[in-house]
Amino acid sequence: MLTFDILTLFPAMFVGPTTESILKRAQQADLIALRLHNIRDWATDRHHTADDAPYGGGAGMVMKAAPLAAAIRATVGDDAPPVILLSPDGETFTQAIAHELAQAERVVLVCGHYEGLDERVREALITRELSIGDYVLTGGELAAMVVLDAVARLVPGVIDAASTAEESHSDGLLEYPHYTRPAVWEDRPVPPVLVSGHHGEVAKWRRRERLRRTLARRPDLLARAHTEGQLTRDDLVYLADLGWMST
Ligand SMILES: C[S@@+](CC[C@H](N)C(=O)[O-])C[C@H]1O[C@@H](n2cnc3c(N)ncnc32)[C@H](O)[C@@H]1O
Repeated sequence: MLTFDILTLFPAMFVGPTTESILKRAQQADLIALRLHNIRDWATDRHHTADDAPYGGGAGMVMKAAPLAAAIRATVGDDAPPVILLSPDGETFTQAIAHELAQAERVVLVCGHYEGLDERVREALITRELSIGDYVLTGGELAAMVVLDAVARLVPGVIDAASTAEESHSDGLLEYPHYTRPAVWEDRPVPPVLVSGHHGEVAKWRRRERLRRTLARRPDLLARAHTEGQLTRDDLVYLADLGWMST
């Protein structure tokens, strides 16, 4: 079981994304556990103040060091799990990182809010910082849910392993297109090979669609897949026919 400890000022934001569908079933099956911790519970003053004005002036509020540090220390315990801050200036979250985190027994996710947190907590207690993209959210909660969702679905048993084997970003290529019944929709038939019953031809078509789509949409991924030795001789011949020049 993979346990996610999430530290947040707004635990109610997690209702919905974590209480429906696959994440709900994964918790019911004890494949993942989700523990929400309200940082405000560690604020010791009468008003449970968790933020304050920034030193040096300027707009916005900053999450105070003491309540956040107490919350992290109380959550971490002796097994030293990764303590991950969601932060727009962190390392960009990828499928490879999702795979890595899915191997862990426990992951602590810290959600910033307002202008962010007192830098000293980052220095003292955060072991890794992840960004979900080059844009700024109001808080780390949505980012934590993105990480949680992407990691949880890679935990064995959460979804059918075959679903994750050839999907986008699993092995350097994007996924092939999908179709379902009816065979013709608004004068658009499905590709004939998919209804041919020839499994070998279907597999070949899917591989080529993955190559074609990756070349059209993300040639940067194709170059990396080639460098990492993920492309076969047949792949390279097909890509050359499409006009791709490997470097
Ligand atoms: C308004 S943001 C703070 C932005 C910060 N002042 C800056 O310029 O880098 C508040 C919180 O949202 C979260 N956040 C915002 N954008 C994010 C992103 N792209 N990825 C991960 N977390 C993000 C972080 O936890 C951050 O502390």
